[in-house]
Amino acid sequence: MKRLEGKSTLITGSARGIGKAFAQAYIREGANVAIADINLERAQATAAELGSQAYAVEMDVTNQASIDAAIAAVVAKVGKLDILINNAALFDLAPITDITRDSYERLFSINVAGTLFTLQAAARQMVAQGHGGKIINMASQAGRRGESLVAVYCATKAAVISLTQSAGLNLIKHGINVNAIAPGVVDGEHWDGVDALFAKYESRPLGEKKKLVGEEVPFGRMATADDLAGMAIFLASSESEYIVAQTYNVDGGNWLS
Ligand SMILES: NC(=O)c1ccc[n+]([C@@H]2O[C@H](COP(=O)([O-])OP(=O)(O)OC[C@H]3O[C@@H](n4cnc5c(N)ncnc54)[C@H](O)[C@@H]3O)[C@@H](O)[C@H]2O)c1
Repeated sequence: MKRLEGKSTLITGSARGIGKAFAQAYIREGANVAIADINLERAQATAAELGSQAYAVEMDVTNQASIDAAIAAVVAKVGKLDILINNAALFDLAPITDITRDSYERLFSINVAGTLFTLQAAARQMVAQGHGGKIINMASQAGRRGESLVAVYCATKAAVISLTQSAGLNLIKHGINVNAIAPGVVDGEHWDGVDALFAKYESRPLGEKKKLVGEEVPFGRMATADDLAGMAIFLASSESEYIVAQTYNVDGGNWLS
């Protein structure tokens, strides 16, 4: 039996990477998925690739009008919103002495404000529908502790874990489960960018950091986006009704908590 049959889902930042893999997995489980991304062209290409249960929605999670329009587009298309995955995020890296206010504001605007206000808009829609819902936030192992070169991103992901707790506690009375996934290191275009930044700041050849972080994972390799999909399906399914305000590590054993 399909576990997300007929569920209307919006996944932010799903034109590529982990969000795209989640969209693919949800579609296999019977969901309709809005591929919501700031890059409309890539969202359209992804939706076309994923088939008739996927459709593209232009969405900038830093812009309130764009958030509201994206939720309205889902309701206009499918008639309801059952599941939100807050997945869009940006990464940056710099020693403390080099962090710029611009980088700080961009990361907090997308990773934290984007998560909160998309969650809020989705929750308002779910409360109005009156039959609950599921919200999954993408945190990170970076939110579990600081890292020497990654202060701002780590702080944004710690904030996502905290927002998941508060929103989870506040919304469960409406039957809305809010939980989060904390991945470790996931291979893909995102980590190619991270690797290039480490190459710059740690004077390494390109590709070396990625190889090292993979070798350090207790499981023995980096994750693929598909390694996270099982948790994303579980947290959106009826099997996780009693799970509230939690952040689950799916990181091959990198972080113990
Ligand atoms: N890749 C990893 O190793 C890793 C590890 C831990 C956590 N995560 C988290 O998982 C999530 C997905 O990561 P990924 O590796 O797939 O990232 P990615 O960079 O490959 O994809 C991010 C997507 O978000 C979109 N986006 C950027 N700004 C946006 C905005 N303002 N509004 C809407 N969309 C926007 C981009 O166009 C892109 O399609 C992120 O929250 C990330 O922090 C990733």
